[in-house]
Amino acid sequence: MGSQACVPCHAAKYRSFMQTPMAQSSGRAGTSGSFERFDRTEFRDSRNAFVYSVSRDQQGYYFEFRRQGAKQPIQGRRRLEYFVGSGAVARSYLMSIDGFLYEAPVTYYSASESWNSAPGYADYDYPYLTRPIQSGCLRCHASSIQPIPGTQNAYASPPFREGGVACERCHGPGGDHIRTGKQMINPAKLGATERDSICEQCHLAGEVRVPKSGRDEDTFRAGDPLADYITVFVRSGSESQMKVTSHAENLAQSTCKKASGDRLWCGTCHNPHEVPGVREKAGFFRAKCLSCHNTSSCGAPQALRQASGDNCISCHMPRNPPTDVDHVVFTDHSIRRRPTTIAASPSINADLVPFRAGQVSERDLGLAYATLALREQNAAYRERAFRLLQNTAAQGTQDTQVLAYLAEFYRDRKDDAHALPLYERVWRTDQTQFAVPAALGAYQMQRGNFEEAVRFWDRALAMNPALILVRLNMAAALIRTRHPDQAEAVLRKALDFNPSFQAARDLLSRITK
Ligand code: HEC
Ligand code: HEC
Ligand code: HEC
Ligand code: HEC
Ligand code: HEC
Ligand code: HEC
Ligand code: HEC
Repeated sequence: MGSQACVPCHAAKYRSFMQTPMAQSSGRAGTSGSFERFDRTEFRDSRNAFVYSVSRDQQGYYFEFRRQGAKQPIQGRRRLEYFVGSGAVARSYLMSIDGFLYEAPVTYYSASESWNSAPGYADYDYPYLTRPIQSGCLRCHASSIQPIPGTQNAYASPPFREGGVACERCHGPGGDHIRTGKQMINPAKLGATERDSICEQCHLAGEVRVPKSGRDEDTFRAGDPLADYITVFVRSGSESQMKVTSHAENLAQSTCKKASGDRLWCGTCHNPHEVPGVREKAGFFRAKCLSCHNTSSCGAPQALRQASGDNCISCHMPRNPPTDVDHVVFTDHSIRRRPTTIAASPSINADLVPFRAGQVSERDLGLAYATLALREQNAAYRERAFRLLQNTAAQGTQDTQVLAYLAEFYRDRKDDAHALPLYERVWRTDQTQFAVPAALGAYQMQRGNFEEAVRFWDRALAMNPALILVRLNMAAALIRTRHPDQAEAVLRKALDFNPSFQAARDLLSRITK
């Protein structure tokens, strides 16, 4: 229905919720509550290769990039179409190119009131413009999202029908409630698993979230157990080492949570419709602590507590300084007796375990290792993923995601006798696995079947047009089949996506000569 539909009967709830960071977590750039400063916009990447700046006019927001004192000047300007992040800490932006969304390399940081590289972008010595926005990002930051199936990052227009977290994300679909008075879901009245699942759809990131076979996370509704849709994996290791990537993981480490079990949840301390103001904060949270503890529970000297205004959270839930990194927990939700220094990360090769203990299939575990193996270029995880997915395949699975990863691992091992038939088998039944047409095109190219190669690569680019290596190879194939005009167009587009792509520039100058 959209949150607007609740206004006639819950106007006060609506008004207060709309003031929260959750409600303001995404939207069209420049439309709502723009507070970014435009007088301090110039910055450089950490290699000092490019200068970036941000500007605004009647139509919208833009960023520009130009190469520092170079042999060959490179510059460009792109539009910032949507924002992600309320700006309580930071605000990132998305570019929209022919309906495909990419993350912009610039972010606004509220603490320093200035623009800088987006998290993870500072070390690129060229404008990195091709990181696709897959649906996970918008599923957490926006509502009623409209991804186009069979593509990696294309969305209908608009990509989400409501910015931020909508009422129905926590209360379930409202149509019948409004038409017939059917009761809405109230998270606080659910069983613990279903209740916690509502916040965990977005507040439990883990290291990797693996969708269950045949389940689509977009069909999750408040009231469902999240574990029916996804398994969340974390790295094992002693708790003091646990790298914390979400509030749910952090809270699970606290003595309060371990000793109170299901009685304690996010809603014990947070009212999602209302964020306490700076001056009410200490008293607001103190009252929550005192719903279980009493004023004499604390072992600290009275005088010390008085000096802090008996602000429980200033000592037990201290705030870490905000960093230029998103998705880190700022407030220590592990509620320690005494503040501890931030724990070291667990070993990079630590076992992956499900966040909630329980049975986990070889398929889910294999996909978890596979995802991280590729994301982190981790050879040990790649090996584990390969064995687990091989076992899954040996049991006769038809799961094309499993088979596509397995084909990729065979190809990495230069075992084309296994890889190629597997790719072909996946492609016959499922034409949505992103890596498959790119690989099949490469095999055709190797055999000199240039037209076939071009056909596969066309399909790959229809899923994500920013695959610049595919574009380079495709241009080479088009030259071989005497289509220099098409090759030129393919390369020009590659240079739009990466203006520093020298190989594309070289090939282009050979054609135009
Ligand atoms: C036509 C008026 C009307 C509209 C529109 C409406 N509600 Fe309600 N809502 C009510 C009334 C009346 C109650 C109290 C009776 C009840 O509990 O069902 C209520 C109760 C609720 C409750 C409490 C349920 C509980 O068990 O504690 C929630 C949550 C809720 N509404 C959410 C919503 C949301 C979200 C929307 C918009 C999608 C919405 N309502 C739209 C009239 C409305
Ligand atoms: C699993 C859910 C999830 C995904 C996926 C996710 N985020 Fe977030 N994001 C959050 C939550 C929850 C917060 C609030 C603070 C926290 O938990 O770290 C947040 C905080 C942020 C912030 C800081 C907002 C502020 O408070 O000012 C930015 C910016 C941001 N995310 C951008 C992104 C972008 C861009 C993507 C995708 C490329 C993304 N996030 C993917 C859940 C998610
Ligand atoms: C992030 C999750 C979340 C979102 C989004 C959310 N709510 Fe709630 N809502 C809750 C929780 C949790 C409770 C139970 C609070 C309690 O009783 O402790 C609740 C309770 C309610 C209640 C009934 C209890 C009461 O306090 O009166 C109504 C009505 C309601 N919400 C309406 C809305 C409307 C309307 C919106 C959108 C404008 C909305 N909510 C958005 C989580 C959410
Ligand atoms: C659909 C995704 C989603 C759901 C469901 C969700 N959150 Fe959030 N939440 C976010 C995002 C994203 C942010 C960061 C907002 C920002 O600053 O851009 C956030 C921020 C917050 C914050 C900090 C600022 C604020 O808005 O108060 C609290 C506290 C919070 N969430 C509590 C909860 C609780 C409690 C629940 C469950 C009842 C819940 N959230 C459910 C996505 C979600
Ligand atoms: C024992 C009380 C308590 C519980 C339980 C709790 N929180 Fe918090 N949370 C806090 C306090 C205190 C802050 C800091 C508020 C501030 O400084 O404005 C906070 C801040 C946050 C923020 C803002 C970002 C940050 O790290 O400062 C988010 C998001 C959040 N909590 C989410 C959650 C979620 C999700 C859960 C459940 C898994 C949860 N909290 C459970 C007390 C709690
Ligand atoms: C739902 C009940 C509940 C809430 C709410 C709660 N706690 Fe606890 N907490 C407990 C229980 C139970 C224990 C373990 C027994 C004890 O030490 O009292 C505990 C233990 C602690 C400990 C000792 C930790 C250790 O490692 O020895 C501290 C410190 C603490 N709580 C602080 C707080 C603060 C501060 C708040 C509010 C931000 C809070 N608690 C909110 C239930 C709760
Ligand atoms: C000035 C900092 C400070 C403030 C304010 C403070 N505490 Fe503590 N608290 C401590 C320290 C330090 C300890 C550990 C004492 C020890 O180890 O002997 C402690 C211990 C505790 C314990 C564990 C007691 C035990 O023996 O297991 C609880 C529970 C607790 N605090 C709750 C609270 C609550 C609730 C509030 C707010 C009403 C609060 N604290 C305010 C510093 C503080």
